[in-house]
Amino acid sequence: MTKKISRIRHHVNPLADRTDHSFDGFDNDKPIIVDVGADRGEFVVALLDKFGDSKNFIVFEIRIPLAQQLREKFKSHNNVMVFDGDAGRNFESILDPCIKKDIKIEEIYINFPDPWVKERQKKRRFLNEKFLKVVKTIISQETKWVFQTDHEQLFDETVELLQENHVQQLSFFSDLPYGFTTKWEDAKVKEGKKIYRLSFYLQHNIQRVAHI
Ligand SMILES: C[S@@+](CC[C@H](N)C(=O)[O-])C[C@H]1O[C@@H](n2cnc3c(N)ncnc32)[C@H](O)[C@@H]1O
Repeated sequence: MTKKISRIRHHVNPLADRTDHSFDGFDNDKPIIVDVGADRGEFVVALLDKFGDSKNFIVFEIRIPLAQQLREKFKSHNNVMVFDGDAGRNFESILDPCIKKDIKIEEIYINFPDPWVKERQKKRRFLNEKFLKVVKTIISQETKWVFQTDHEQLFDETVELLQENHVQQLSFFSDLPYGFTTKWEDAKVKEGKKIYRLSFYLQHNIQRVAHI
């Protein structure tokens, strides 16, 4: 009797992965760079080339098989930690222990995140109002956040979100942050897409103007 192989493909919402992760931090006090949605890890490879082991890297990738490949790729670098699952869900539990040890979170990169354009999906965006409220309680005002996308609507709505949530030093820039692109960015440029880039810092104490 031959075995019949079923090829039913189940649609899986990766954000339904509810695995919780925790991290005790690195065994050194070097500053940390965070890459949210690392895909094949090209950005971190380039940063490792530039900084070597003078910095630590926290890498989030929601797709478990990709995260496994990233772990394999970076296994000889004990300054790189890869986490699977939703970065937003795990952000606080992974970063807070590092912060409590007084380790500087230097930069956080959100490069070409999924746009989630439908109204009901917008809450899945990595940068959303609820998330900003939480990170304001843990991430220092000195941490630089960088957001890059080829998706104009996502960019415009993210700018609005950041303005409404009183971040500081919101600035737009056109040069590549570290002078290199990933295959994803290259493909978008080849399609003729414009790339939108911004950076900002969180603002913890919002000074409200008193109306006399
Ligand atoms: C469009 S790709 C961009 C990849 C890379 N950042 C770059 O600039 O080339 C978006 C990546 O983010 C990952 N991703 C999407 N949502 C995520 C989430 N909530 N947490 C972690 N990774 C996520 C996707 O699996 C994908 O690998």
